[in-house]
Amino acid sequence: MLQTIIEPFRIKMVEPIKLTSRDEREKLIEAAHFNPFLLRAEDVIIDLLTDSGTSAMSSDAWAALMRGDESYAGARSWYRFRDTVKDIFGFEQVIPTHQGRAAEHILFGVMVKPGSIVPNNTHFDTTRANIEFNGAKAIDLPCAEAADFDSTFPFKGNMDTEALEKLVAEKGDRIPLIMVTITNNSGGGQPVSMANIKEISRIARKAGIPFYIDACRFAENAHFIKRREPGYENTPTIDIAREIFGYADGCTMSAKKDAFANIGGFLCTNDAELAHRERNILILTEGFPTYGGLAGRDLEAIAVGLRDILDEHYLDYRLLSTRYVVKHLFDAGIPVVVPAGGHAVYLDARRFLPHIDPLQYPGSALAVELYIEGGIRCVEIGTLMFGLDPHTGEEHPYHHDFVRLAIPRRVYTQSHMDYVIEAIQLVWERREDIRGLKIVEAPKFLRHFTAKLERVWL
Ligand code: F0G
Repeated sequence: MLQTIIEPFRIKMVEPIKLTSRDEREKLIEAAHFNPFLLRAEDVIIDLLTDSGTSAMSSDAWAALMRGDESYAGARSWYRFRDTVKDIFGFEQVIPTHQGRAAEHILFGVMVKPGSIVPNNTHFDTTRANIEFNGAKAIDLPCAEAADFDSTFPFKGNMDTEALEKLVAEKGDRIPLIMVTITNNSGGGQPVSMANIKEISRIARKAGIPFYIDACRFAENAHFIKRREPGYENTPTIDIAREIFGYADGCTMSAKKDAFANIGGFLCTNDAELAHRERNILILTEGFPTYGGLAGRDLEAIAVGLRDILDEHYLDYRLLSTRYVVKHLFDAGIPVVVPAGGHAVYLDARRFLPHIDPLQYPGSALAVELYIEGGIRCVEIGTLMFGLDPHTGEEHPYHHDFVRLAIPRRVYTQSHMDYVIEAIQLVWERREDIRGLKIVEAPKFLRHFTAKLERVWL
């Protein structure tokens, strides 16, 4: 059998990449205060800042845009969108939103109150922020294997269900819903097993607590189950997805991930009364219930994208191409989180740059060097992002310092990825000369987006 991974698509429209020199990039990153978020996108060669809203739509999805029905109410595009969501996700009530966090905002607005507790395998930052915004507490319950970056456990996204059961027994009356994020973005893009989802559902149902899924990367997670969990080898991935959602009472979704769309999301539930209250907020903040902050053409693109993503040849390619990068880095001795997740590669910056104190942001320092070396843009997930307690003003090292290289879907080819691997290796070879960073100016909340930094010289 041929071993070369090929992109299972042809490219018929291209977007030129502006190539810059190393000298230019040195100046550009300095002008951006050593914060990749402050760079102009056109000065980036390979943009791995996020896989959200950055994917390439298919020719079918582009064609569907043209039939977008822009009627304010009851548009044909809405019915196409709703029927596709119902067919895959199976929930009775579908509420369109302009992106994932809008779905979270509405969900938590109706379900949580001050003093509530919401457990998750690991909350994504917008999920946590929307829970905390309502005065509730977001608790992460990742499985034990998640903390061991070298463990090859196949489902490191799992929730610690023993801890969940204990929490439910002790504080169940304060838990309005239980969530699980598939795949676990903040925990290294790792999948959650069907067995784990079933067990969470069992605990939730026994306690009479609704169980919700943060479904952003549901297709990647379903395909990991097909490839890694015994008993699912011969099940079509779409049926695995249907089984996953069958155990839940609702979901939030960002169509900017596993629907290939540039914008969009939705919220689902089986509870008609709850949906009624959610739609009332939707009308206030997003739009009428048959478009929810989206144009008819966006609804069309999402309906097509949700079918496209479940193409198993595409999903095999997706998981293999991410693994390809991880394997090359791992074989070169570079500290990378294993096994490979679906949408991103996570470098362990604390082990990559052990001479840099976590309070001098090794993740950000590494991200800066990857930009200088190859024009690659990626994001620190570590002490700059999470180290400051905005309420006390105290700063502590976060429990890890990662650099996430998120791979937009169908945008970059294998040679782009070879280039990324080579650039990381070149930075690895000169790692001892890399210096930490210090903050010159930063806001208290979500400081990583706008912080201005400079190099620390010894
Ligand atoms: N949940 C998860 C697991 C996510 O990864 C994201 C977004 C959201 C919810 C929110 O969705 O952006 O449509 O409002 N993640 C992006 C990222 C931003 O880069 O990982 P959104």
